[in-house]
Amino acid sequence: VFAHVVRAPEDPILGVTVAYNKDPSPAKLNLGVGAYRTEEGKPLVLNVVRKAEQLLVNDRSRVKEYLPIVGLADFNKLSAKLILGADSPPIQENRITTAQCLSGTGSLRVGGEFLAKHYHERTIYIPQPTWGNHTKVFTLAGLSVKSYRYYDPATRGLNFQGLLEDLRSAPAGAIVLLHACAHNPTGVDPTLEQWEQIRQLVRSRGLLPFFDSAYQGFASGSLDADAESVRRFAADGGECLIAQSYAKNMGLYGERVGALSIVCKTADVASKVESQLKLVIRPMYSNPPIHGASIVATILKDRDLFNEWTIELKAMADRIISMRHQLFESLRAKGTPGDWSHIIKQIGMFTFTGLNSEQVAFMTKEYHIYMTSDGRISMAGLSSRTVPHLTEAIHAAVTR
Ligand code: LMR
Repeated sequence: VFAHVVRAPEDPILGVTVAYNKDPSPAKLNLGVGAYRTEEGKPLVLNVVRKAEQLLVNDRSRVKEYLPIVGLADFNKLSAKLILGADSPPIQENRITTAQCLSGTGSLRVGGEFLAKHYHERTIYIPQPTWGNHTKVFTLAGLSVKSYRYYDPATRGLNFQGLLEDLRSAPAGAIVLLHACAHNPTGVDPTLEQWEQIRQLVRSRGLLPFFDSAYQGFASGSLDADAESVRRFAADGGECLIAQSYAKNMGLYGERVGALSIVCKTADVASKVESQLKLVIRPMYSNPPIHGASIVATILKDRDLFNEWTIELKAMADRIISMRHQLFESLRAKGTPGDWSHIIKQIGMFTFTGLNSEQVAFMTKEYHIYMTSDGRISMAGLSSRTVPHLTEAIHAAVTR
């Protein structure tokens, strides 16, 4: 009965890892998926995460009961505080509801399904380009996906006029997906002045902002600076949605830990919204897993562990920034044609190199370097040892 099933293509991002794993070359390098690696090219479990896990294991009072449908209460409160700041009006006025979800993707999906059921406007505008999964997540959630201009290939920067024009002509009430910081895949963010203009436009047109915050602390090394865009929207009295992920900033990729927050006008509305979120979640996966959220809550509520986390987080962000400088200097030293200054101007985990899909295919075939076909490379996958190999490959690709 399944003989008619057609083979689906691999995922454009996770499929890169599948291809990488099959390559026997010792020189192979995976710059596809956004996952942090050490200078030795190894995945990293933060020390503070190991400590928290030890505390959890030693606590014999802990059991493996089901969590509530919206997850661990402590985790939810602390997550809202982390992204908005403790003084944020929605927290002070108790008009925010937060549900622990399956990392950023799960938070986006639950938020999308809630909006498709309970919000009057089903259209969501996403930046062009955006993370490859956004369109699929929101389409399957029941929303209609349109895009707004974001990236300008000519300047390798923000197409701010295009962005403003497209949001200005979006129907009143439309949902707008915004990357809180470290835009994926371009590494191009609005300045704070530009954020302010976006905020005013969004509010004056009655658009509904939905933030995807996957890199808090990872872009600049500061948890507060990377949350500034979201905080401004949350503080202005209007509604917004926020999807948070702890995959990158706590290195909890496979634990699937994240949160969806919905900022409402009143506490009463927030509690009704929460009751409906439960109806979205229960038939989807019943309730979320306990381990990752317990790690996060343990770290966020203990001042020493929290401080230790910020130091480790900054070290990861700094290593990525140093990789940007090393790659830029290396291409310059080699005399590779082109202006590569965008490598040091873009921020976050990724550099949007400007290499086209043929150049990417060439680099994979000849140099065993794996990356997404849009030319995005994960700077977190690079190390001082592998910068020369990547430089050779880019040089060969652009001078062929
Ligand atoms: C990425 O863009 O590489 C990450 O967000 C991982 C993923 O799930 O795609």
